[in-house]
Amino acid sequence: MNEISIITPDDWHLHFRDGDMLQETVLATARCFQRAIVMPNLVPPVTNAQMAKDYKQRIVEATPKESQFEPLMTIYLTNQTTQQDIKDAKAAGVVAAKLYPAGATTNSDAAVSQLDALNPVLETMTEVDMPLLIHGEVTDHVIDIFDREKIFIEEKLTRIVNQFPQLRIVLEHITTKEAVDFIQSGSSKLAATITPQHLLLNRNDLLVGGIRPHNFCLPVLKRNIHQQALREAVASGSKKFFLGTDSAPHEKHRKENACGCAGCYSAWSAIELYTQVFEELNVLDNLEAFASLNGPNFYQLPVNQTHITLVKESWTIPEEITLPNGNPIVPFFAGQTINWKLKV
Ligand code: NCD
Ligand code: ZN
Repeated sequence: MNEISIITPDDWHLHFRDGDMLQETVLATARCFQRAIVMPNLVPPVTNAQMAKDYKQRIVEATPKESQFEPLMTIYLTNQTTQQDIKDAKAAGVVAAKLYPAGATTNSDAAVSQLDALNPVLETMTEVDMPLLIHGEVTDHVIDIFDREKIFIEEKLTRIVNQFPQLRIVLEHITTKEAVDFIQSGSSKLAATITPQHLLLNRNDLLVGGIRPHNFCLPVLKRNIHQQALREAVASGSKKFFLGTDSAPHEKHRKENACGCAGCYSAWSAIELYTQVFEELNVLDNLEAFASLNGPNFYQLPVNQTHITLVKESWTIPEEITLPNGNPIVPFFAGQTINWKLKV
């Protein structure tokens, strides 16, 4: 197959950041995605309806006039989040709330340290039917970083799911076989996003031949059996898995650093990379459901009306992109050639 048309996809998990960075990130996403779930981990985090509305406004201002792109806003749960915050957020059109265990990832210091204390908030989210998006990793220092997702599922997520069976939950950017199995065997209220990097890479791509900071993201890449399980999950055609790039830009000097930041900036090539993976797996027919149908179905939003076309044509992802502030950023898969290209 040399050309494939699919319903315009949405990105169900990404980081736009703020300020002049939006001139870069919103454009990169709007080139092919119609909607995106925008993560709230700014500094300070987006914790209530008003902050989400203001942030949305800044994103809309950075969106090209001719674009149909729509940001879907989220709020960040903290130990101070109230039931009223959830009701207000719902009334303001906020689509979901994000749970970061404190210290789990970039800009998560303000996040939830006592999960049990969140029960009243989760009750209200169930009542107003607002999905809970979870960064599924425990953060105890003694837990090995490669086990943090698996242990989160065993010790935290299982309890949340049992206690709130009607709450819609997305386990974000899953990285392990255990996560795939947990989602597959769960109810229709439970789903997961999968990133291009976790489908394309495993921990060898992070550590063999030298540390590769641009492949460092959280949850960290796992061993190849887990990568395989994620590939099988998308190949299965299950409705419970959908596209979430986790595109997470950090300037070059913050990644190439003695203490490098976690996050891959994949917006410039994500849809092409997913297409390549689906082709490798011989399941190009499943791409549209993963990218454009399963997400809206889970979020109870309409499916997009337009289409995009990808053509089989090689191109090389640039080594660097210059941000509006003049600083360089290294995109995910920089310098590598991929087989599919968005037709514009
Ligand atoms: C994200 C970021 O940079 O904001 N980083 C990452 O490695 N994925 C945060 C996140 O989604 O965990
Ligand atoms: Zn993320």
